[in-house]
Amino acid sequence: MECKVKRFGILTSGGDAPGLNAAIRALCRAAKNQYNMEAVGIFNGYRGLINGDMKVLSENELSGLIAQGGTILGTSREKPFKNPVVNEATGLLPVEAIKENYKKWNLDALVCIGGNGTNTTASLLFQSGLNVIGLPKTIDNDIEGSDVTFGFYTALDVATDAIDRIHTTACSHGRVMIVEIMGHKAGWLGLYSGIAGGGDAILIPEIPYDINSVAKKIKERKSSGKNFSIVVVAEGAKSKEESLLDKKSFKKARAVMQCTIGARVAKELEEATGFECRATVVGYLQRGGTPSPYDRLLSTQIGAAAADFIAQEKFGNLVAVQNGKIKPVPLDYVAGKVKNIPLDHPMIKTARDLGICLGD
Ligand code: F6P
Repeated sequence: MECKVKRFGILTSGGDAPGLNAAIRALCRAAKNQYNMEAVGIFNGYRGLINGDMKVLSENELSGLIAQGGTILGTSREKPFKNPVVNEATGLLPVEAIKENYKKWNLDALVCIGGNGTNTTASLLFQSGLNVIGLPKTIDNDIEGSDVTFGFYTALDVATDAIDRIHTTACSHGRVMIVEIMGHKAGWLGLYSGIAGGGDAILIPEIPYDINSVAKKIKERKSSGKNFSIVVVAEGAKSKEESLLDKKSFKKARAVMQCTIGARVAKELEEATGFECRATVVGYLQRGGTPSPYDRLLSTQIGAAAADFIAQEKFGNLVAVQNGKIKPVPLDYVAGKVKNIPLDHPMIKTARDLGICLGD
């Protein structure tokens, strides 16, 4: 089919996630097959666009990507609009360099695959006059406007498997095991893996916790003959006291905390219950490895839809998923927001119905 766009740039930015390569493959193949568009790969997120670190992608580079974790383009957390400084060599501000390279490489559009930080920059680039499309990627599933992001369900598989494995050692040693799950601003991964993994307590950023409430739950289990407990803690979980701090003070307090939140909760629970507590941080295992079949399908669907968005010139939008359908959501609506778990979310109710302690 004919369309105005002949060539687009593609970059991946922010934390990597399973499904990124599947999305790159689907977008580039669909754009070529449907619209005869050419793809220019941009390396290491926005940094590559600032420095002109780019190359035309060939079909060979796309082959076999669907099952490959990570991103062949590399990524970074570069934020061109945050505290911009003029480059001494070029005399340009980052956004000026971006516009120069966008023109130099004859790009008719730019596809940015990332999370909240990426979409905020994408929105600002759109407002600066570039034809930009965003794709929702993050294991945190915290992008406003999209029911789901690719990477989340693979990370959920990994996190749940980790909790299952911790279960057997907790039971064998009669310990309280704390499992720290990624998600520094929203607790989707912690809540879902905590329920799927049979956690007894789940602490998430959305519900500031009282350690005594968790200790009570563990002691009740002990009295009923359960010799172990599993406590799932999202890395963004905060105590009731910490929830009273402003953002800056909270960030400062966490920066000087001499251990992870999981280790801190383990220490607090050991002091409050007298039981042996151990912490495990699942960490970057949740970001690595091959995408699950679900995420391969989701990334492929979103990537292929992005080709249509470009051809139809639906610029300034995120290729979002709503009620199982692909929908354009304005980037300036998504920018600067975090999709937290609503306190009346059905999964919160399910957790409470099962008697899982949520720290309140
Ligand atoms: O945003 C995804 C995420 O994995 C968060 O869950 C985590 O806190 C963060 O990235 C880690 O960032 P980095 O990879 O820069 O250490």
